Amino acid sequence: MRKTIIFLLLSVVSTILYSQKFENLAETPPMGWSSWNWFGRNINEEIIKSIADAMVSSGMKDAGYEYVNIDDCWQDSKRDESGNIVPDKEKFPSGMKNLADYIHSKGLKFGIYSSAGVKTCNGYPGSRGYEFQDALTYASWGVDYLKLDWCYASTQNTVASYSLMGQALKEAGRPIVFSICEHGRTEPWTWAPKIGQLWRTSTDIQDCWDCTRSWGGEGWLNILDKQAKLYSFAGPGHWNDPDMLEVGNGNMSFNEYKAHFSLWCMLSAPLIAGNDLRSMTKETLEIFNNKEVINIDQDAMGKQGFIAYKDSKLEIWMKKLSGDEIAICFFNRSENAIPLKINWQTFWGHEGIYGNGFKAFHFDKEYRIRDLWQHKYIGTTAEVFTETLERHSVILVKLDTPIP
Ligand code: GAL
Repeated sequence: MRKTIIFLLLSVVSTILYSQKFENLAETPPMGWSSWNWFGRNINEEIIKSIADAMVSSGMKDAGYEYVNIDDCWQDSKRDESGNIVPDKEKFPSGMKNLADYIHSKGLKFGIYSSAGVKTCNGYPGSRGYEFQDALTYASWGVDYLKLDWCYASTQNTVASYSLMGQALKEAGRPIVFSICEHGRTEPWTWAPKIGQLWRTSTDIQDCWDCTRSWGGEGWLNILDKQAKLYSFAGPGHWNDPDMLEVGNGNMSFNEYKAHFSLWCMLSAPLIAGNDLRSMTKETLEIFNNKEVINIDQDAMGKQGFIAYKDSKLEIWMKKLSGDEIAICFFNRSENAIPLKINWQTFWGHEGIYGNGFKAFHFDKEYRIRDLWQHKYIGTTAEVFTETLERHSVILVKLDTPIP
């Protein structure tokens, strides 16, 4: 009897300790870098190490970026004779544990990639049937983040497959952020919050404004349009993931990249850079290291923004922040400048097209208006807001502390 009670007590204590380890993962949207958007298949340990160095020397680490994530094509084409997943020895001769140690020594975290199917999208061994073994391997290497893709998995059930890996990660005992990547096929926002910390909501982002590729890739504007209705599903520890950033990859203008970054922050999206951090222009760094804009993304309340107003050219996004503050992003999707003239008192009379959230913004207080790209106060809500909104650009403001 005594033995049974001791056993029960021990298992309750270990369950509590064990679940606590996983409870505080990704309380705010994860920030970091991933190899896919720029390097694709061409990765190796020297590149990854130098990216980690650049994350520190560029000031990005100080701005909050921490994950250095290797995407597809790090694996050997076959598992070893015991079924262990192993890295390609030519690309990663020192092994993954050494690489993880290097990244950790910089005060950063290490992310890795696999697929829930039998193969990854580029044909390397996937996790299907090896979930528990792989989770143990990743934990032993010191992995902090796993992105699990959805290739060679067409006969599998998404919820069952991701649950299995989620369980395997927990049993391996190392807190690993779990990034679910089934491209939004089975409405992951309805089931993924119980399994992982973020879930892709869309196809693969491309470095363009609104292009569409024959195989399904899309520009960030197309992806943005699919996020608007998902705002109620995000919150601390569980985030919609509209894919990695294309900022700095060269095909868009400074204003377009600023808009892309601003809207990702309004969405409380994970901020995973996808460019070559070793050779960034001043403008690219100005975007990545804008702490005032990052703070909108990382706000502790974790409320995703929503569209309060929309016509064929202009969108007005709003995001509730802690401390009774509000972020507002005026976004011009059109080819011509828009003269903005906002009377804050009557402006609030509009019904938000996505309903409820907007009504919460009815207020009679006066706020100071801070422009988060110009880094200065530009008036208060007692005055009419008159600005020119350039083509393909944003004005991002924060209505901060109400004036008593
Ligand atoms: C896609 C995924 C991309 C990238 C790529 C690698 O399925 O959405 O983000 O990981 O696979 O093959």
